[in-house]
Amino acid sequence: MIIVGIETSCDETGIGILTDNIILCNIIATQENIHSVYGGVVPELASRAHTERIDILFNKAIRESGIKISDIDYIGVTNTPGLKGSLLVGVSFAVGLAYSLRKPLYKVNHLYSHIASNFLNPEVKFPALGFVVSGGHTTFFYIKNPVSFNVVGRTLDDACGETFDKVARMLNLGFPGGPYIEKMAEKGDETKIKFPVTLLDKTSLDFSFSGLKTAVLYYIKKNGLKNIQDICASFQKAVGDTLIEKTSRCIERYRVKSLLLGGGVVQNGYIRKRFQELSDKRGINLFIPDRNLCLDNGAMVAIMTSFLIRHSVSPSENIIEVIPT
Ligand code: KG4
Ligand code: ZN
Repeated sequence: MIIVGIETSCDETGIGILTDNIILCNIIATQENIHSVYGGVVPELASRAHTERIDILFNKAIRESGIKISDIDYIGVTNTPGLKGSLLVGVSFAVGLAYSLRKPLYKVNHLYSHIASNFLNPEVKFPALGFVVSGGHTTFFYIKNPVSFNVVGRTLDDACGETFDKVARMLNLGFPGGPYIEKMAEKGDETKIKFPVTLLDKTSLDFSFSGLKTAVLYYIKKNGLKNIQDICASFQKAVGDTLIEKTSRCIERYRVKSLLLGGGVVQNGYIRKRFQELSDKRGINLFIPDRNLCLDNGAMVAIMTSFLIRHSVSPSENIIEVIPT
């Protein structure tokens, strides 16, 4: 069973090829150099870059995996959530490919794919708690089985990665901001500045990061940019405290057997360490994808597609609706 996964929901063009639980290739073309001058993703530029690259990337993926195009059995593509123009490029390409090869086509939710990056590990047990911490989302899922996802908590304003990006911008660091903040934080003192940890009401599983973002802004206005390393370390600690407290609440409320993380922010070594400590303390099995599977990529779409097939979810007709957010 050879599955092609196509990902173009935001600013990464990704093609992944999967066979029998083995990732044959996972090629990603990032657009960081296109958007970095603007300090954020520019939707029109993103979709244009996807259009220019997707065909080249697909052919490269076929060559790298050592298969022929006619060997492809199934195609999966991200159709939600994401930027409309970006999603349309991947979906149009996938529809054309499926139609020309006369192969089944599956629409895939981007957030489920982030979590599905963990599903190839046979140790993952259900029900599970899934937590996507990315540039666009901070969302908890109760996952009954690999194809049944229910949202149980989400951010009410900025996403966690977005907050990293905005704070990095205030500090004149690069884009995307997460890796820059992580690097700076390594040399900083996380106890130097007390930034707010917003928990909303006592039982809430939702997030709000706008207060933290504003607190950093006011700190900089008052104190300038003298101690960037301490600002980064203290900010990162406040984010870590928030993520861990909310995850603890979820674990308490739902009887889950595994904790599955996904999304760009969980590439952060400090955040990974905090989750490992939580897992040890709570005795819950923690799964975090390899770093190349944390960022947006095609392999995660192929993995999610393989579970849709296994669970007998029907493929789409040769028309797929794009649902941006
Ligand atoms: O999952 P992703 O590639 O795209 C979305 O679906 O949003 O995540 C990108 C986000 C960006 O906001 C970026 O700043 C953040 O992941 N990120 C990090 C790190 N690496 C990437 N955040 C914190 N620490 C990192 N090392
Ligand atoms: Zn993503």
